[in-house]
Amino acid sequence: MSAVSFQSVSKTFSTPKGPFQALHDVSLDIEEGEFFGLLGPNGAGKTTLISILAGLARATQGRVRVLGHDVQGDFAAARQRLGVVPQELVFDPFFNVRETLRIQSGYFGVKNNDAWIDELLESLGLADKATANMRQLSGGMKRRVLVAQALVHKPPIIVLDEPTAGVDVELRQTLWQFIARLNKQGHTVLLTTHYLEEAEALCTRLAMLKRGQVVALARTSELLQAASANVLRFKTDDALPAALAPLARVTGRVAQLPAQNAQEIERHLAQLRAAGVRVEDVEIRKADLEDVFLNVMAAEGAQR
Ligand SMILES: Nc1ncnc2c1ncn2[C@@H]1O[C@H](COP(=O)(O)OP(=O)(O)OP(=O)(O)O)[C@@H](O)[C@H]1O
Ligand SMILES: [Mg+2]
Repeated sequence: MSAVSFQSVSKTFSTPKGPFQALHDVSLDIEEGEFFGLLGPNGAGKTTLISILAGLARATQGRVRVLGHDVQGDFAAARQRLGVVPQELVFDPFFNVRETLRIQSGYFGVKNNDAWIDELLESLGLADKATANMRQLSGGMKRRVLVAQALVHKPPIIVLDEPTAGVDVELRQTLWQFIARLNKQGHTVLLTTHYLEEAEALCTRLAMLKRGQVVALARTSELLQAASANVLRFKTDDALPAALAPLARVTGRVAQLPAQNAQEIERHLAQLRAAGVRVEDVEIRKADLEDVFLNVMAAEGAQR
């Protein structure tokens, strides 16, 4: 049985401008114990898919099951098995951190939860904020509380929608260590993030969404191997020759050109030299998940 199963899920919103289809026939299964990444540009439909999973929105078509429980027909059982960290920071500003976590425990019917709440506060670097009022917390600290809140009932499946947006480097590492530990203990993790380095390091399997469709679904290692090219990276102030410009990814002074092998790297360099382009800080690196992601997103249409 899958931890999470999306079967032909479509979602159409009605908007003042008419219907808008945010998800097109999304099917994917996440197995128990997986660390699964859901990637896609802004507006691809990640949060919509997670909202349907969490029972916060209804699919227009299709079915979603959580450990066999239908999120519509068997909502309470499905919801009990999920811990969801939402993308939006929403709180009741009248409570302090510990109260917030106790209330959330009560909501899931967990009594005498203080030992686990203390462990959560400790692991998320919130121990000294336990009695701070929610509205006194900084944005990053509120996000930590959201994570703690999602975990109060020790859910077998942890869903994190952009958990590290606006979170400092130190906490990102603490958070990932903590989530990785929970995953080792058997919790299934579903993560969305725009930090592709984090996704590459953590997720064993990935789905990429583009305009509401699944355009890639594979093990992270397979995605990287399929791309297993090199990237020639350099800095320049000059314009690239017409033959190379369409291939290049340019960020400020930095240009990056994909290359399958050493000959292609040499060819690129020769073309740059012939065009009189002056380059500095030349380096060759392996393609990473960001390259794969940009390739997949640049490909025309949606293929499976
Ligand atoms: N309640 C709604 N009514 C109408 N359109 C909506 C609604 N919620 C989301 N959408 C649209 O659905 C699309 C998908 O939105 P969604 O929030 O799922 O994207 P996302 O992949 O989570 O993006 P991001 O990376 O920015 O969080 C967007 O075009 C969005 O404008
Ligand atoms: Mg989102």
